[in-house]
Amino acid sequence: MREKSEHDFALQEKRPSGRNHPLLSFKEFALLKHFLSPYKSKIALAFLSLLLASSMVLALGSGLRYLIDNGLVEQTSEQLPTILTYLGMAVGLLALGSFGRTYYVAWLGERVANDLRREAFQHILQLEVSFYEQIRIGELISRLTTDTSLIQILVGTSVAIAIRNLLLLSGGVIMMISISTKLSLYCLAVVPLVIIPIVLLGRRVRHHSKLSQDRLADIGGYIDECLNQIRTVQAFNHEAIDKLIFRNYSENAFAAAVKRSRARALMAAIVMTLVFSAVGLVLWLGALDVASLQLTAGDLSAFIFYAVVAAGAAGSFSELFGDLQRAAGATERLLELFSFPISAANQQQKRSLPITSRGILAMHNVSFAYPSHPERAVLKKVTLSVAPGENLAIVGPSGAGKSTIFSLLLRFYDPQSGSIYVDGMDIKDASVQDLRNRIGVVSQEPALFSTTIYENILYGRPNASEEEIWRAAEVVKLGDFLSILPHGIHTVVGTRGVRLSGGQKQRISIARAVLRNPSILLLDEATNALDAESEQAVQNGLKHLMKTRTTIVIAHRLATVLNADRIVVLDQGEIKAVGTHAELISHDGLYRRLATLQFADSIALSRGMDDSLLKQA
Ligand SMILES: Nc1ncnc2c1ncn2[C@@H]1O[C@H](COP(=O)(O)OP(=O)(O)OP(=O)(O)O)[C@@H](O)[C@H]1O
Ligand SMILES: [Mg+2]
Repeated sequence: MREKSEHDFALQEKRPSGRNHPLLSFKEFALLKHFLSPYKSKIALAFLSLLLASSMVLALGSGLRYLIDNGLVEQTSEQLPTILTYLGMAVGLLALGSFGRTYYVAWLGERVANDLRREAFQHILQLEVSFYEQIRIGELISRLTTDTSLIQILVGTSVAIAIRNLLLLSGGVIMMISISTKLSLYCLAVVPLVIIPIVLLGRRVRHHSKLSQDRLADIGGYIDECLNQIRTVQAFNHEAIDKLIFRNYSENAFAAAVKRSRARALMAAIVMTLVFSAVGLVLWLGALDVASLQLTAGDLSAFIFYAVVAAGAAGSFSELFGDLQRAAGATERLLELFSFPISAANQQQKRSLPITSRGILAMHNVSFAYPSHPERAVLKKVTLSVAPGENLAIVGPSGAGKSTIFSLLLRFYDPQSGSIYVDGMDIKDASVQDLRNRIGVVSQEPALFSTTIYENILYGRPNASEEEIWRAAEVVKLGDFLSILPHGIHTVVGTRGVRLSGGQKQRISIARAVLRNPSILLLDEATNALDAESEQAVQNGLKHLMKTRTTIVIAHRLATVLNADRIVVLDQGEIKAVGTHAELISHDGLYRRLATLQFADSIALSRGMDDSLLKQA
């Protein structure tokens, strides 16, 4: 299980705490507007449907009034058929409007969430690799799924309800005034009483919503980490502890959600109480007016119908505010995601590298420290040039900075000082796509995707032909292995290649880099999981390829690098010596030490075999 580093907390610290104003901020609103603006016609349709549905609800009230005064009170049935026909038409239009409203508004919600997810994903793909050292992947997943869903709910439901309620409220109020100004004034007097608690309590709801979302994201992060390392979890019997930790996360999320719900419930209760007490009061006052013949029974019925519609609309605003606040929290978090700058390498429009790559590489006085540990120099004034077609090896103790050199060549990071040149151009000025196009890399940890072997190799050059893929597979001698698989090259390898052996994963990774047909091939401990014989076979396969392209091989096993044109000895970020195996053995202390340790083993081994042979004899 990975321990929590300070970076995990760094992001949590970066999370903005719930702001004080209850609604969407201008920036959050602008984000939503940006995503809604392409769909003006759909918005218009949704709005028209809303208008239709709401006006029909209001028309029902007039129908009711007419029915009571002309049908029931007068006790005649002459006009009933006409009234009922109108009512029936109103109901039909109401159905039509409701359909349009539900459909178009939901469409908008899904569309916006979809676009938002797509753009957020596109954005995070371009962030610096160091960003991923600071965040838990599970959290990112949560932001892309949960937060966008919240916005979908906002756009796809809440806004529509808000508009509908706004129409019902204003229409209802107008009708109320037309029936009795006096009663309406009594009703309007309580409006501030409703609005003030909404605003005050709304702040609390928003604050709790944000906390609740953060706790959910924590859960996502933990699940992701735990399941990704499931073998370690089980091998170390860590399940019980993980269960406890998870329960903790889960309970925290529950507690946060309960606090949020309590705040919402409180708000709803207070608002409802105020609204319906007012309606009761008005009903009583109205009854007095009917008794003194100032109002008809139909008037009062219609008035109460409108008052209930308007009050219901006003009351559900409190619910809406809750949704709005949850969505505002989500928008805030997504905005935060968009605010992480895309990597410098991806940013500017750069010049292209020379069209034909010769695979010339040079590092000049390169010094580098990782952004998370700026005080610790990992590379110190490294100067190195590699000729086209050269086969260079880098050896040195663990942590010397070997893999870091590859990261810099790929421009995952920029050195603090010094420059790196590829085909004669400073890579800072070159297009990063161009740069990476001419590099084929096999990283220290083989990185396979949970698809077929075929697709994994194809990853190196998506437009390669099937024949080229088979040729790449042949270079790394995959043939024997593929023939024993049920679906051959089309066998699925499982998440990150779990269904393969370490050596098989490595060979597929090499095949992928080979398929890329790069002018510069970077192999980071690419064959260390292979037995000596298979390694020899892969090296033979790579041999003729390596003749025509620049290759840098990192290896601990010196047998791997014996045939390199030159070997660089790196120690604590500094180049200690450069030369062929023979030269280094005679001149360099560190190399000699490494070599004696490794070859002493094999000498002892061969001696042991001699002894046993002697004994047998
Ligand atoms: N992403 C990172 N953030 C901070 N420090 C890092 C990072 N990656 C590596 N380091 C540190 O940089 C130093 C060099 O690491 P590097 O991976 O280049 O070593 P290496 O020579 O490839 O070692 P090995 O042979 O074990 O693979 C190490 O001290 C390591 O702890
Ligand atoms: Mg390494």
